[in-house]
Amino acid sequence: MDPGGQLKEGLISGKPSLNGLKGVRKLGQNHGEKRFIVVSNRLPVVLEEHNGALSVKSGSGGLISALSPALRDRGGSWIGWLGTSDTVSIKGIKSLLGPISSQSGYRLLPVFMTQQEVKLFYQGFCNEIIWPLFHDLQSRCRFEPSYWETYMQVNQKFAKVTIKHSDRWDLIWVNDYHLIPLGRMLKDKRPNCAFFLHIPFPPPDIFMKLPWRQQVMDQLLSYRLTAFQTERDADNFLRCFKELNPRSRVITPKGRDRGFKITHQWETVVGTFPISIDFLHFEGLAKFPKVRSKVAQIHKAHEGRKIMLGIDRLDYTKGILERFRAFELLLERNPELLGKVTMVQLLVPSREDVTSYRNLREEIEREAGRIIGRFATLDWIPITYMYQSIGQEDLAALYRAAHVGLVTSLKDGMNLVSKEYCACHPDNDGVLILSEFAGSAVELGAGAITVNPYDMEGMAAAIKTALFMPHEERRQRMSLMRRRIKAWDVFRWMDSFLSTAAGLTLSSLPKRELPPIIRRRS
Ligand code: UDP
Ligand code: G6P
Repeated sequence: MDPGGQLKEGLISGKPSLNGLKGVRKLGQNHGEKRFIVVSNRLPVVLEEHNGALSVKSGSGGLISALSPALRDRGGSWIGWLGTSDTVSIKGIKSLLGPISSQSGYRLLPVFMTQQEVKLFYQGFCNEIIWPLFHDLQSRCRFEPSYWETYMQVNQKFAKVTIKHSDRWDLIWVNDYHLIPLGRMLKDKRPNCAFFLHIPFPPPDIFMKLPWRQQVMDQLLSYRLTAFQTERDADNFLRCFKELNPRSRVITPKGRDRGFKITHQWETVVGTFPISIDFLHFEGLAKFPKVRSKVAQIHKAHEGRKIMLGIDRLDYTKGILERFRAFELLLERNPELLGKVTMVQLLVPSREDVTSYRNLREEIEREAGRIIGRFATLDWIPITYMYQSIGQEDLAALYRAAHVGLVTSLKDGMNLVSKEYCACHPDNDGVLILSEFAGSAVELGAGAITVNPYDMEGMAAAIKTALFMPHEERRQRMSLMRRRIKAWDVFRWMDSFLSTAAGLTLSSLPKRELPPIIRRRS
């Protein structure tokens, strides 16, 4: 629908170039220069309209954080939604997105949604079904049939825009759970589609609860490459597939250290590619004089106290309430720590139109208030709480200033915050407490203190261990994690995904385990 008669999809163009895409060129080598097209629900910017004036602000979340630097100057196009259902003039959008496209070296091509589509597709199917289900929280799901219908309709919209802006042999890279059906919709016209799931894939006893499980499984197998963050996700996927299709064929290479190939209606290579960060960018930011002076200011404001930091999008998967309760338990059982440690919690606003997110915010704020009320003194407040999005310099300063980074996700596809925290500690100081249910625990588990976020006492004990960890141990653990992240940064992730997607052989998949760099001392 185009209520004002002004919306046309996919009109914004910048200056595409074709640097650095060896793998993708291979795809189109007999067909002239071919492009690569990234499709995700969101574009990296959110459009806002106040009193008729349009503006853009950066979107938040791991997908945007990872794809933005990785796509820069590669000359691709990025198709996605601008985060609004308002009627906006195409001229206004063009004047805002055109410069961003030119500066970033990829074209931004918007897809528009009506209010009803936002409600049923984005808030409904994506955020009330797939998101909670794939994070093992099935009791939060609302399996509403109209959500599925709109999910398919909106995916058709994305398909239309994608076809309009691509050629038959282009590589179409579809991202995340919002767009699972897209590959099948494009199959005949755009056979080179690859898919990356940024969130976890659940085990069979949870996935089987999805009323549309067979359709979703078939859709995931319409891609030439279907990729996950970790082995845990790929294995869950394989188990679900076998349960639904006991007679189909799975080829697993010797040693099972790469991926597997499933022959269902088509042939699909399934692999794991742990997403990462622009390590050098974050490390550089943390060393930047302006950031260092912000770090000094933060330390001064906290008067020599230990700082524990949580940075999360407001989301029930992040275990924020569990973290608060563990902190409360720590203070209750260790009165000598009163006045000596402060928890800084930044919550980035997210999905504010979804009821469960609004309720969660209220509950978090109530809990923070209760804990502050219980322990605060005239010269110390145990929790510094912020509900806002902050700029990258402030973010790096917070990371660097924090003696302990707390990541307590109940389940997380990867969790980039844990990697950014490490990248911002070039002095190798700082301790990461990391949920064993975050995807990043595979790479960082040997250096972090891993916790079960459902175990309050275990988390309280881990915080205490982190606060008193000797300097040499802190240094060794942090240095291990930093070296791993540096060796597998977001550019490595992107290149290995693209070369696999373009070459499509099992042997071109990266090895499942990243090589250990140094062993952790027992
Ligand atoms: N982040 C942000 N705005 C902020 C603070 C953080 O966009 O004010 C970024 C943060 O740097 C990180 C991302 O949000 O890259 C969160 O990604 P993560 O993988 O940790 O979780 P997700 O939000 O994808 O569930
Ligand atoms: C996670 C998802 C992304 C999503 C982001 C922010 O990182 O994997 O696909 O974009 O959260 O959520 P939102 O609903 O605001 O796009």
